[in-house]
Amino acid sequence: MTTWDMKIENGTIVTDTEQYKANIYIREGKISAVTHEQLTGDSLETIDATGHYVFPGFIDTHIHSRDPGPTYKEDFIHSTRAAAAGGITTVFEMPNTSPPVNHAENFDRQVENLSKKAFVDFALWGICVGDLNNQHLPSLQQKGVIGFKFFWGYAVHAKTYQLMYNYKPGMEDVIPPFQDGDVYTMMQEVQKTGEVFAVHAENNDLIQTLTEKVEARGGKSYEDLIATRPALAEVLTVKTGIELARETGVRFHVLHISSGDALDLIRDAQAEGLPITVETCPHYLFLSNEDFARVGPHMKVYPPVKYKSDQERIWQGITDGTISHVCSDHAPHTEEEKNGGLWSIPAGMCGVETLVPLMLQGVTEGKLSLQDVARLLSVTPAKLFGVHPQKGCLTPGSDADITIVDMNKERTIDREQLHSKSKVTAYHGKKIKGWPVQTIVRGQMVMNDGKLFGKPGQGKLITKKRKQSLPFN
Ligand code: DOR
Ligand code: ZN
Repeated sequence: MTTWDMKIENGTIVTDTEQYKANIYIREGKISAVTHEQLTGDSLETIDATGHYVFPGFIDTHIHSRDPGPTYKEDFIHSTRAAAAGGITTVFEMPNTSPPVNHAENFDRQVENLSKKAFVDFALWGICVGDLNNQHLPSLQQKGVIGFKFFWGYAVHAKTYQLMYNYKPGMEDVIPPFQDGDVYTMMQEVQKTGEVFAVHAENNDLIQTLTEKVEARGGKSYEDLIATRPALAEVLTVKTGIELARETGVRFHVLHISSGDALDLIRDAQAEGLPITVETCPHYLFLSNEDFARVGPHMKVYPPVKYKSDQERIWQGITDGTISHVCSDHAPHTEEEKNGGLWSIPAGMCGVETLVPLMLQGVTEGKLSLQDVARLLSVTPAKLFGVHPQKGCLTPGSDADITIVDMNKERTIDREQLHSKSKVTAYHGKKIKGWPVQTIVRGQMVMNDGKLFGKPGQGKLITKKRKQSLPFN
C-alpha cells in the first residue's frame, strides 16, 4: 500500500479559475493526487485544512537579498526565511548583487552561494549592463536565468555594480545611465535569447533636470520628491521601451509600475497585440503620498509611490488584467540608512514577508477575489517566467509547493516580528485579516502557524525549462 509523505485534508483548493473542496496527497515532493475522495494508505504527516484555503505556492518574482554584497542590509538566509514566514514558496532573486549575475561564471558562483542558504526555492535573474555583458547573455540564458533585468535610468558603481540611488553627473567611479541606443542593442541581444527583458522604468535625464529645479527652490517635502521623479519619468521610459520592443520584437516586461499614465500606455500596447507585460507591488496599491506624514522616509522607494489617483488607476489595472502579477520588490536597507534625510537616503524597504498578507487584506476589503490572488501571486508568475506547471500549479506531477491561508485570522503587522535583517517597512501597525498559516515547499513544511522549520539549503534552484508563455493569449 502507498504511504503518503503528506496529506492535506478538507481544505478548499483555490486556482486562478475555480475553488473547490478536495484533499491533496503528496509523495516525494510532488503532488500525487487532488481528489474529493479519501485515498487508502498511511500518511507520515496529515494537515487538517478545514475552513482554510489551499493555494499553489506563492511566488515572489522580485526580491533583492543583497547577497553577495552589502549583506549587512540583508542576506539570503534572512530573506528566504522571511519568504517562508510570509507564505512564499519560491523567490526570484534580482541580479544587482556584488558581484552581479552578469556572466555564466558569476551565475554558477551565485547558485553555489545561495544554495547553501535558501529556505525556499529560488530562481535567478541575469543583469544587462550594455556592452559590458551583451556577449554573455546567451550563456546566462543557457544557465537558466528566469529573465534579464535592466536598471533603466540608474547609474551603477563601476566596481561594485551597486545602484547609485542619488546619482548626479560628474560622480566618480560610476557607469552612468545608458543611452537609448545602448538599450536598443541590449533588446536585440535579449531578443535572440528569447528571454524576458524586464526594466526599471524611469528617465534619468528628466530626473536630473527636475531635481535641479526642485533643489533650486528648496523643495524638501514628499511631493517634492515625487516632482523629481514624476509619472512623466516613467511614461518617457515606458514609451521608448514600447517602441524599441516593437522594433526588436523582444518580450518586454515593465517592473513595478507606479503611475496611471504609464500603465495606460502599456494597456494600449497590449491592445495592439504587442508581447508586453507589467507588474506592480503592494506599495503602489496600499500607499500614496497621503501616507508619508504617518510613515515617513521608510516608504521611499524607486519609482516613488505617487498620488491617490495613481493608486486607484493601478487597482484598475489589476482588475482589468493589464497588470500580470504582483511582487514585493523586497529591497532592505538598514534603519540608520533609512533615517537620514529624504533626499540622501537609499530607496527600498522590506516586502517579501508582507506581500501575501497585504494581498489577502485586499480580498478582505473586497478589492480582489481568492482566484485573483492565485492568479496574481502564483499561476501567472509561473507561466510568465516559464516554470509552469512545475510551479504555480496544483495538479499531479507538479512540485508540492502549497500555501495554506486562514482568511479569518486577524493580526497586526509588527516590524519587530519580521524575519529580515532590516525591519524597515511601511506597514508597521497595519491590521490584516487573512494570513498564510502554512508554507510547504516540495512537500516539506517550512512554516506552520508562524513557526519556521528546516534549515538553510533546503531551497533549490529552479531554472527555466521552456519558453515563457504569455498569460494573455
Ligand atoms: O526602491 C528601490 N530599491 N528601487 C529599485 O529599483 C532598487 C531597489 C534596491 O535594490 O534597493
Ligand atoms: Zn527591484
